[in-house]
Amino acid sequence: MSIHTEARRITVPQLMAYKGQRKIASLTAYTAPFARLLDEHLDMILIGDSTAMVGYGMPSTLAITVDQMAAHAAAVVASTRRACIIVDMPFGSYQESPAQAFQSAARLLAAGGVDGVKMEGGSALAPTTRFLVERGVPVLAHVGLMPQYVHTMGGFKAQGLSDEAAERIYQDALAHEKAGAFGVVLEGVAERLARRITQDLSIPTIGIGASPDCDGQILVTEDILGLTDGRIPKFARQFADVGALINQAVGQYAQEVREGTFPTLDNCFGVKK
Ligand code: KIV
Repeated sequence: MSIHTEARRITVPQLMAYKGQRKIASLTAYTAPFARLLDEHLDMILIGDSTAMVGYGMPSTLAITVDQMAAHAAAVVASTRRACIIVDMPFGSYQESPAQAFQSAARLLAAGGVDGVKMEGGSALAPTTRFLVERGVPVLAHVGLMPQYVHTMGGFKAQGLSDEAAERIYQDALAHEKAGAFGVVLEGVAERLARRITQDLSIPTIGIGASPDCDGQILVTEDILGLTDGRIPKFARQFADVGALINQAVGQYAQEVREGTFPTLDNCFGVKK
């Protein structure tokens, strides 16, 4: 008989139970090496459609496809054992109808083996959340600053700054809770609003540029590691300069190759001189 000692993956119901008990630590990952390094530290890993900008250098998140997200999801799931893995539904893969959303979610769940999906959208999308949840797809809602709405927002701007706009976002979050979402990402909203939503909802709120009082936080990993090309968002603190380390290591490698001091490979193949 073998004793099974493998760490169990954090489930969506477990994440929900963390509300009021412990904060949810979460970051993005798109590839195996990053996911492997992040896994032991985090409760949740998001395969964000931010990979369109961070990983593919696109100007927005809009052009990434379900197939691309499914490939990233498969890599992240295969290289992690502990964190709950959520994948973003890309733009155009869910807004048309609940049935379209279910087909996209089913492809992502089947191909990637993820634990749930995230969708950007306000109250109008709540029926889609309900449709998915009733068919076995856990949904993390995303309200406030929604990068897929970059054109209607006129850029990546903080949201909910007037009382009326703040109330709309509050109602958006509430609508997704009522529809069965297991949590809600609050991005780019005032602290007061994020605090109110966090207090009033029974599901966890995950903040990004919102409030430390949210039930959890998420950031783009490249932003906190010094790997972002250009300016990082004001709310993202840089915890390390991995970009500088890579620069130094690659510089040294190139120099050794050019100077001919690159070590001999004979030893690797057991070649006798
Ligand atoms: O796409 C993404 O990475 C995101 C977050 C960071 C919340 O949606």
